[in-house]
Amino acid sequence: MNAKEFPRRRKKLMDMMGDETIAIIPTAPVYIRNRDVEFTYRPDSDFYYLTGYAEPEAVAVLVPGRPHGEYILFCRENDPVMETWNGRRAGLEGAVNKYGADDAFPVEDMDEILPGLLENRERVFYTMGTNVSFDQRVLGWVNQVRKRSRTGVNAPDEYVSLNHFLHEMRLYKSRAEITAMRKAAKITAKAHRKAMQICRPGLMEYQLEAELKYVFMQNGARDPAYPCIVGGGANGCILHYTENSDALKDGDLLLIDAGSEYDYYASDITRTFPVNGQYSSAQREVYEVVLAAQLAAIKMVRPGNHWDEPHNAAIRTLTEGLVELGILKGKPSQHIKEKSYTRYYMHRTGHWLGMDVHDVGDYKVEGEWRTFEPGMVLTVEPGLYLPAGSEGLAKRWWNIGIRIEDDVLVTEDGNEVLSSDAPKTIDEIESLMAHGIAA
Ligand code: GLY
Ligand code: MN
Ligand code: MN
Repeated sequence: MNAKEFPRRRKKLMDMMGDETIAIIPTAPVYIRNRDVEFTYRPDSDFYYLTGYAEPEAVAVLVPGRPHGEYILFCRENDPVMETWNGRRAGLEGAVNKYGADDAFPVEDMDEILPGLLENRERVFYTMGTNVSFDQRVLGWVNQVRKRSRTGVNAPDEYVSLNHFLHEMRLYKSRAEITAMRKAAKITAKAHRKAMQICRPGLMEYQLEAELKYVFMQNGARDPAYPCIVGGGANGCILHYTENSDALKDGDLLLIDAGSEYDYYASDITRTFPVNGQYSSAQREVYEVVLAAQLAAIKMVRPGNHWDEPHNAAIRTLTEGLVELGILKGKPSQHIKEKSYTRYYMHRTGHWLGMDVHDVGDYKVEGEWRTFEPGMVLTVEPGLYLPAGSEGLAKRWWNIGIRIEDDVLVTEDGNEVLSSDAPKTIDEIESLMAHGIAA
């Protein structure tokens, strides 16, 4: 990410916070994988969005108007021995020189320093409830200031969640963020193409997962944004199937929902294709319905339309399709009214996408669905899931689970599908699987 992004974000947030306020933003904790081995560290998205600082054990404090500097970073100090064992640290000097902090202090000194920073601030911007022990510390610091009120200092008496301002900012992606998201989607599309090219009956689901992760990493996306979903046949009807442990069978469909994270930005793409390279007639019929629903939904993504319009378009096309195929009997309008389509389509058509795969940002504003504006990024991911043995479902549809998911940027005059390098028409997919090139 362009280093200029971070001070710009901090300034914007502080402008919104106003005077006599303070914001306290801790990063994510380290999680243990086994005994003394940690999971790969990933900073908290809110924290990283404001700091660009990826080391653990850090807390950013923003104090608008503070004469000695508005941005303070509490972080790990340099430690030659620890750095020899576990890797480099920016240290206090790096926090200032590299990460633009006005002041940097050892994270261990926070209990001593924080109460002083809280003095005469009226409002504390801090998001309670994600880290209970840190919540207690914040309350303790404020209490310490309150105890000194007889000496003439004022203690803050208002706690405000940071989410409202910060998540509103994160919802609108800057040019640099869109560049990162485009790249994440391109890498992921490449991985999906690779999976289509090498897929054949007899491979294990995890072997395709390995291929996806290989392409991600080879292209600089070190981690997936969420666990890869690689589900053949019946497993494709489990929305978040992540065991990825079965053999792929001739005649089955394969649903892959996988997305790389590039420079802390997520992609989230699903494609569903035949294990043997050719859709059966039943699979083809259902696939065409889901694809038509997805295209209809994407069309509704444009400035001025509201959040629920793509979902409504998808539901309409899916339900009409289910009736046409004879899977649902009766009138589509009745099924839509009674929501009986939820038997086969039980999730929503998308979510915001950004640093978090299910990204932040309100879906409703003052009780009304939010309208799309340029710079917002969302997924569009309708599906149909027809598990074997579903009551009244003819055998020819059994174990057809299909989802098609793209990442869509709202532009001035409509939208841009960031993930369009991943083929999704039947002809494109069959051609890529047969000849190594999309039709
Ligand atoms: N991969 C999770 C989702 O599609 O929402
Ligand atoms: Mn997905
Ligand atoms: Mn998704």
